[in-house]
Amino acid sequence: MLRTLTASALLALSLNGGALAQGPSPAAAVAASAAATASQAAPGVQSANIFEIRPDAGTNPNYAKQTNGERARVQPGNNAPMWHQVGAGVTGTSSLPASQAPEAGNLIQPFVQYPGSRLTNAGEAWRQARNRWIVPYGGALLLIVAGAIALFYWRKGMIMLHGAETGRKIERFTPFERAAHWANATAFVALALSGIVMAFGKFFLLPIIGSALFGWLTYALKNVHNFAGPLFAVSLVIVLLTFVKDNLPCKEDLSWMLKGGGMLSAQEVPSHRFNAGEKVVFWGGVFFLGLMVVASGLVLDKLLPGLVYERGTMQIANMVHGVATVLMMVLFMGHIYMGTVGMQGALDAMKTGYVDETWAKEHHALWHDDIQAGRIPAQRSAQAAAGRAVQV
Ligand code: HEM
Repeated sequence: MLRTLTASALLALSLNGGALAQGPSPAAAVAASAAATASQAAPGVQSANIFEIRPDAGTNPNYAKQTNGERARVQPGNNAPMWHQVGAGVTGTSSLPASQAPEAGNLIQPFVQYPGSRLTNAGEAWRQARNRWIVPYGGALLLIVAGAIALFYWRKGMIMLHGAETGRKIERFTPFERAAHWANATAFVALALSGIVMAFGKFFLLPIIGSALFGWLTYALKNVHNFAGPLFAVSLVIVLLTFVKDNLPCKEDLSWMLKGGGMLSAQEVPSHRFNAGEKVVFWGGVFFLGLMVVASGLVLDKLLPGLVYERGTMQIANMVHGVATVLMMVLFMGHIYMGTVGMQGALDAMKTGYVDETWAKEHHALWHDDIQAGRIPAQRSAQAAAGRAVQV
């Protein structure tokens, strides 16, 4: 959005300052003439204060180090002089309709000085937060957690069943629960992979595949991301409603937590249908982070009605989205590990819907006891009740 607004603002801009300090660069000249045409065609927003006056205007030593001739040769298309004038407070006319672009007359966000930092504008502050904090620390966290999981697998291996299978099957997930889960998981994987390439790809992919291919790939993945987002949002709400009942906290969760689930000993701590670790992923990952990720994503896609999409709104949404998605990916790396190579039989449960009685007894002893005592039906869906479970 930011880029679109800036590009259209450029085309629609004509500077009142007239002659640029050192004569216009080719790009600025094009922008100015396009602006003249645009402002003739549509009545623009004429204002004396559409650009923020930079408090250090005129004293910034970085201004105009290059001559325009040099700049046009080494950086064709760079219209820095025009931006320098904008930064210095030159005012002009924007033909963007204020109804469609609430900040039509404001090319540069206000300058601010945060404690201990240099004078900057909010756009630059956001850029620094993203590039210096969220991307490097987020990337490092993802790598550290991936490494820790690999180390855990190397030392512990897959958690196997200790007893022999009985051949008697319990329905752990109904077809509806599995459909909701896999719709959500598919969208999640598409979002995670495309998001990782967009945020970190320039460090690990760009040097290998080159800028042309990387440009096309990120463009394609951006569209994948935008379309998978709403599917994720809808399926997340269904997953939340479907699994909330069995994820409500109970007193046995406390001892499970205190003993770390028994993960490092030979025997697991008894749990109901979902153990406390799964409940942490549910409430922390699916509920809290899921809602943050979805809400900020909908803002970035401009899909929340009634919101004024200003630059500041988008910058905050971008930072919330970045932090929440990294934390969510970290949590779900653990979930995906336990659901695939970490525990024998877990993936089968989500694929087929069924687990063996021995699996239920060893991993969710209290759930197994409730089923044995008839407090919970062993076959819940109509399909399973009709006896098709035996074929699994
Ligand atoms: C490739 C990605 C994923 C795989 C392989 C996977 C695998 C699994 C497996 C095997 C189970 C059954 C665990 C058990 O029987 O206790 C499960 C449960 C579950 N999964 Fe996933 N999953 C994935 C992604 C996701 C995502 C993205 C979400 C939600 C954002 C999610 C939410 C859940 C929930 C809510 C449960 C029920 C257990 C609980 O409430 O914690 N999963 N998953």
